[in-house]
Amino acid sequence: MILNDYLLANTASPALATTISSLAEAAIHIADLAAQNGLPAHMSGQMSLGAVAGSVNEDGDDQKQLDILADRLIQAALQDAGVGYYFSEEEAEPLCFDEAGELAVASDPLDGSSNIDTNASIGTIFSIFPADTITDNLPPLGREQLAAGFFIYGPQTVLLLSFGKEVAAFALTPDKAFVKMTWDVVIPRQASEFAINASNAAYWHPKIAEFIDDAIYGAGKETSNMRWIGSLVADAYRIFRRGGIFLYPADSRPAYAQGRLRLVYEANPIAFLIEAAGGVASNGEAPILDMAVTSLHQRTPLLFGSADQLAPLLPSTHSPS
Ligand code: F6P
Ligand code: MN
Repeated sequence: MILNDYLLANTASPALATTISSLAEAAIHIADLAAQNGLPAHMSGQMSLGAVAGSVNEDGDDQKQLDILADRLIQAALQDAGVGYYFSEEEAEPLCFDEAGELAVASDPLDGSSNIDTNASIGTIFSIFPADTITDNLPPLGREQLAAGFFIYGPQTVLLLSFGKEVAAFALTPDKAFVKMTWDVVIPRQASEFAINASNAAYWHPKIAEFIDDAIYGAGKETSNMRWIGSLVADAYRIFRRGGIFLYPADSRPAYAQGRLRLVYEANPIAFLIEAAGGVASNGEAPILDMAVTSLHQRTPLLFGSADQLAPLLPSTHSPS
């Protein structure tokens, strides 16, 4: 089944279907750009798409050439689809495209941009919600998302998409169609792989440090394997594929009291997918999807993945049914 047929069968909203298929068109373009990064112009010394563009985004990350191109492509796609408002990692303020637009979209147009030149997977994350839920220029709770997903540009370009009940996966074929994969996207409750940037260990809070110690030394059980790609989409994709957990907790570095990831366009869409696949996504105290949005670029600690594996770090009220 191709993406457009899935959209027809799974949403009664033409605006929502158009927005997602428009995002898919932009993603095809971004995947092409990423695949051709610097070729053949590399030979003549043209800048790579992973080169810093000389600007920083609102959260202080260096903007890369591809961050900016991806943001432009997403903007054009959303305007074509009649989307009302756009909240982007790469824009300081929300953009209004059409006051009468039914929908609003939040996006990290190019996640994992430090990996562009390393040829590791990168992606585009998106969150779609009704425009009339915007209050004081801010999106609503993550629970109010109508749909969310991400495109991952790796050996395969894949879209993971959810309307809240299930997660569907679509692989991009060589003739540029997103075709539904025969993959039941369900996260096992228990696995033995964890992802954390261990170079921050000196700054972890004791609860995290003890948990990771137990994962590494076993604490009477089997030891766990570690993976850290450094692109949220890539670490998340692995967890959808075979379970495990991702941790970017708060730590004691001055700028990391709320972790590293941004609530509106990273944590919320990922959490929406994770819950739909039977996993848990939390800030350590409450589900990500129940967090009040207080600013567009707000950070949040982000812990997600296999429910039982994550349980020791969460309040007991927190597990999925
Ligand atoms: O977008 C933020 C991001 O690049 C994520 O893709 C990734 O999970 C994380 O930051 C990596 O952070 P760090 O460089 O601190 O390991
Ligand atoms: Mn990102």
